[in-house]
Amino acid sequence: MSRTATPRRYLMCRPEHFEVSYEINPWMDVTRETDRGLALAQWETLYRTYLDWGHTVELIDPIPGLPDMVYAANGATVVDGLVYSARFRYPERAAEGPAYQKWFADAGFVTHTAAQTNEGEGDILMVGDLLLAGTGFRTDPAAHAELAALTGREVVTLELVDPRYYHLDTALAVLDSDPAAPLIAYHPGSFSPAAQQVLAERFPDAVLATDADSAALGLNAVSDGRRVVVAPGAVDLQARLRERGFEPHPVDTSELLKGGGGAKCCTLEIRTAR
Ligand code: ARG
Repeated sequence: MSRTATPRRYLMCRPEHFEVSYEINPWMDVTRETDRGLALAQWETLYRTYLDWGHTVELIDPIPGLPDMVYAANGATVVDGLVYSARFRYPERAAEGPAYQKWFADAGFVTHTAAQTNEGEGDILMVGDLLLAGTGFRTDPAAHAELAALTGREVVTLELVDPRYYHLDTALAVLDSDPAAPLIAYHPGSFSPAAQQVLAERFPDAVLATDADSAALGLNAVSDGRRVVVAPGAVDLQARLRERGFEPHPVDTSELLKGGGGAKCCTLEIRTAR
């Protein structure tokens, strides 16, 4: 099967202030050294990859004291040109919500201030006409209802159960967002039994990732419909993607993984009006 790439518009944030100065997920260890130069170089490779593929990448200025701002996916959710602001679970990241919201307002978007706790595209992924929304660690289910009311779209709640995979985008990747043939990859063990059942019913042909793929944060992948940026260590996933007609492109984000994030975490998709 041949796959079709579609042009994307992304928002990213250079890791100029990258460090691990607090611990809010099991990947973060403040006693472990980080190399900001390496983080910047890995990020730059990711950024160049998108530009080489012809995608548009906007940049938001990094703010000193907000080291997790590099994980732009958490900054907001943009669906049909509407911006639903992020409202972070932990105080260490609270200032990122308004910072991203201001970027969108300055860029001319209509923005909506969330009343409920949600961590943007970390927990909210669009596939076809649907929104998949994670909960269990960060985003409150009340935010799923808020998002449904705002967008008028169906929002499917999925409960995450493994603290290593605390955001939906660490457990599930959208491979094809075409409403005619939506396709995802996911790691069943990261989800509650009820969520596994929902996923199996809604996406019977999904690509299933192995424990090893998950441990490499392989599901934190970014697909443009044909090319998929994926962690180099997720070898089973890469083989399965090739079988399904995708082109996996390994990009090493090992330094950014010390903060608990990979390629998708660094990439916020800006989806304009339907
Ligand atoms: N240190 C960040 C946190 O724990 C990492 C966020 C990763 N982002 C993501 N989209 N999963 O909040």
